[in-house]
Order: sequence, then C-alpha cells, then structure tokens
Amino acid sequence: MKALVVYGSRYGTAAEIAREIADVIENEGNEVDLKDVRAIKKFDVSPYDLIVVGSGIKMGKWTKGSLKFLKDNKSQLANKKVALFVSCGAANEEKSRDEGWENYLKKVATENLEREPVELGLFGSVYDPNAKHGLMYKLTNRFYKKELEKQGIDTTKRHDYRDWDEIRAWANNLAHS
Ligand SMILES: Cc1cc2nc3c(=O)[nH]c(=O)nc-3n(C[C@H](O)[C@H](O)[C@H](O)COP(=O)(O)O)c2cc1C
Repeated sequence: MKALVVYGSRYGTAAEIAREIADVIENEGNEVDLKDVRAIKKFDVSPYDLIVVGSGIKMGKWTKGSLKFLKDNKSQLANKKVALFVSCGAANEEKSRDEGWENYLKKVATENLEREPVELGLFGSVYDPNAKHGLMYKLTNRFYKKELEKQGIDTTKRHDYRDWDEIRAWANNLAHS
C-alpha cells in the first residue's frame, strides 16, 4: 500500500503526531510520504491508497492549509481510504472529548468528504510553560494553566497529553486497513 500523511500544524504538536503515524505505517511494510501542507501547492493524490490528513486546532478551527487540501482534493478523495486526525486541548479531558469529536472531526468529515473516513483520531496537546509562540499562545497557556492548577497539576512542568500508545495503535490499524 502507498500512503500519504499530510498535516497542518501551528506549534508543532500535530506535526510530531503525523511523523509518528507515518513511521508506524512505514514500519508495517508500506510506502509512505509525509508532507507539511504548507510545503505543497497542487498535489497529485492519485498514486495513494490511503490518505491521512491532520491538523492542530486553534479557536475551534483546523489550519487553513489542511482544510484547503481536503477541499481541493474532494473528488479524488472520494475514491480513496481517508483518515482524519486532530491534536487539540479538548482531547485532554474527558468532559470536552465529545465536543472535540463532534466539532473538529465529525463535522469536518461531513462538510469536506464525500465518503465516510476509515478512521477519525482525536489526540491530545502539550502544555509547555516555557514555549515561546507569541501572544495568542501565551494567553491560551494562561487559561490552561489555571485549569491545570484547579486539578492540582504542577504547571511549572511540561505535560504531554498525547497518548503515544493510542496514536501508534491507531496508525497500526490504518496500516492494515
Ligand atoms: C491560540 C490557541 C487556541 C487554541 N484553541 C483551541 C480550541 O479552540 N480548542 C481546542 O480543543 N484546543 C485549542 N487549542 C489547543 C491546541 O489545539 C493544541 O495546543 C494543539 O496541540 C495545537 O496543535 P499544533 O501545535 O499542531 O498547532 C488552542 C491553542 C492555542 C495556542
């Protein structure tokens, strides 16, 4: 099988997930291309059997690039196996996961795909008190800091809420789809 993994990532979190997904699919004996959506313009998806498209979420939104990729390739993707994933804060907590599934995955799939995706993946984010990503990031981090403090979590430390076993299992499943 030949697979394409395309991602849009503002702060690098979804990019690392995409790399892990690509590695797993490749290690299972498939040919894989991994692309940052910002580095591609017109892209020929015809050689691929499986296309994984992912994005980080900011203010409820996918990256423009990942969404554009889905829209630009809508008719071609109708004949392919397609999987979508997101990395978002909503995945980190049980109480917000359903909302994440609905708004960032199911809705995006319904609006942008002509065929049911083979998989949807809702993956967590990283809390990093020392990351330097500009004002919006800083303000959002301040909000997350308060939430984590309410839960008694040490906010002086970095916390990776991505479940790498879950991500690898998800990718492994795709590799054999
Ligand atoms: C400015 C900003 C806005 C965010 N908005 C949301 C949001 O609306 N919903 C959510 O679940 N997570 C939100 N997050 C958390 C991100 O989705 C999370 O950090 C994700 O891992 C970012 O992926 P990326 O690093 O690939 O861009 C936000 C983070 C930042 C910094």
